[in-house]
Amino acid sequence: MKNITRRSALKLGALTGGSLLLPIAFQHRTQAATAGSPQPAFFQAKFRIPPVLNPVRSDATTDYYEITMKKAQVNILPGLTTEVWAYNGITPGPTIKQRQGRQSIVRFINNSVGVPTSVHLHGMASLPQYDGYAEDLTPPGYYKDYVFPNNRAATLWYHDHAIHNTARNVFMGLAGMYIVQDEFELGLPLPKDQYDVPLIIQDKQFNNTGKLVFDDQGEKGQYGDVILVNGAPWPRMEVAARKYRFRVLNGSISRSYKLALSNGADFIMIGTDAGLRSAPATVKNFRLGMAERYEFIIDFSKYAVGTKIVLQNLGLPNNDNYDGTNQIMRFDVVSAATDDSSIPATLRTVQPIPESSAVRTREFRYERTNGLWVINGKVWDINRIDANPQLGDVEIWRLYNNAGGWFHPIHIHLIDCQILDRNGKPPFLYERGWKDVFYVGENESVRVIGKFGPNTGKYMTHCHNTVHEDHDMMNQFEVGQGGNSGWEAPAKPLPAPPL
Ligand code: C2O
Ligand code: CU
Ligand code: CU
Repeated sequence: MKNITRRSALKLGALTGGSLLLPIAFQHRTQAATAGSPQPAFFQAKFRIPPVLNPVRSDATTDYYEITMKKAQVNILPGLTTEVWAYNGITPGPTIKQRQGRQSIVRFINNSVGVPTSVHLHGMASLPQYDGYAEDLTPPGYYKDYVFPNNRAATLWYHDHAIHNTARNVFMGLAGMYIVQDEFELGLPLPKDQYDVPLIIQDKQFNNTGKLVFDDQGEKGQYGDVILVNGAPWPRMEVAARKYRFRVLNGSISRSYKLALSNGADFIMIGTDAGLRSAPATVKNFRLGMAERYEFIIDFSKYAVGTKIVLQNLGLPNNDNYDGTNQIMRFDVVSAATDDSSIPATLRTVQPIPESSAVRTREFRYERTNGLWVINGKVWDINRIDANPQLGDVEIWRLYNNAGGWFHPIHIHLIDCQILDRNGKPPFLYERGWKDVFYVGENESVRVIGKFGPNTGKYMTHCHNTVHEDHDMMNQFEVGQGGNSGWEAPAKPLPAPPL
């Protein structure tokens, strides 16, 4: 119902002629006087990939990187300039590519974004003081050196996590990809290098002058009517007629997607949030909640040069959908190619964690009461611990949402889990593997199992609708006793000594 109301309101806006001042380059879709971004034509923007960041220096064990958070003027919509708050001035930020077993030290400098920041590397088992604890803020004019152990091969992402302001800061541009690979994965015959491609999907809202408009609709959700992939609106990617590996990340604030290909072709799913699956699985579509990552192969070798395939969003309930958000990007097959890659029948051993190994079960209820987003009826309290597993304990967590009207992609820091069941039924085929975000849809109950470690200390869990997280659907667990929480490595004032 909410969707219809919103959409009709936009249509009404169009009738009142709210968009007469737009440059000619923009098509008029859902335009309104006070809402509705300039709408660039579909599939005109050139597909691009965030640059890979080079280390400042390297030694036997560690690569040292430096990233400055700053305001920058960039071109996202044709002919318009947009101010972003971005890692090294680009959004998405530069991609860090690492090898498992090497350590990264990344210096994040809070130069000119003008607000306090906290950086979380989502998917990494970092020590608490390097995990982007929401209250561990780096004020403007300060920097912090984060230590990342790179202990699992997976598609991760780094993003802002500042208490009460994560949604705005990420919306303004503070997000980037981080890829860890190991020798085992690199030894597989999967598509590599330029055929291994990140897809960071985000929805954004702009005003007529191209300014980003953060509007969380009274702490409910931030929805945009322009879809960006790797920072470009509805881009067109030219592909060769061969296999590609894609690493898709939903980097949106509140919007989930249900991805499908316009020609009805299969996605060959090879990975979940935390790395490769045990074996490939083919699906026609899949649900992608905020912060979830999936890896899949599309085999374009079946198609003649000239074929165009749209990556579509079939839409999900309670997503505040706009007309243009049902399309994401287009793949244009432009050349023939030889292809020496292949998809092995087995990928990586994913040992199921037996239910019987769990030492306890906990329940977490996600709901909206009295205008607040709460977990088991409670808002964030830095002094409260809601779970205290001991190091090495296996636990089952039942995450549930008793209501219609909202979905919650629930994220657990530090550990990777497996989904035992979803509403008492087996998980979807594509979500069988290691995961750190669990889509808890309307009236859904999801049981996940995981082993607490390898670190002790305090870690957050929260809804990854970051508007919900900010107000205040977030809590924390502590592994072991008396552990670190975030202040053991405080930010330091600039200027910084050499790395
Ligand atoms: Cu992706 Cu606690 O965050
Ligand atoms: Cu995380
Ligand atoms: Cu939520």
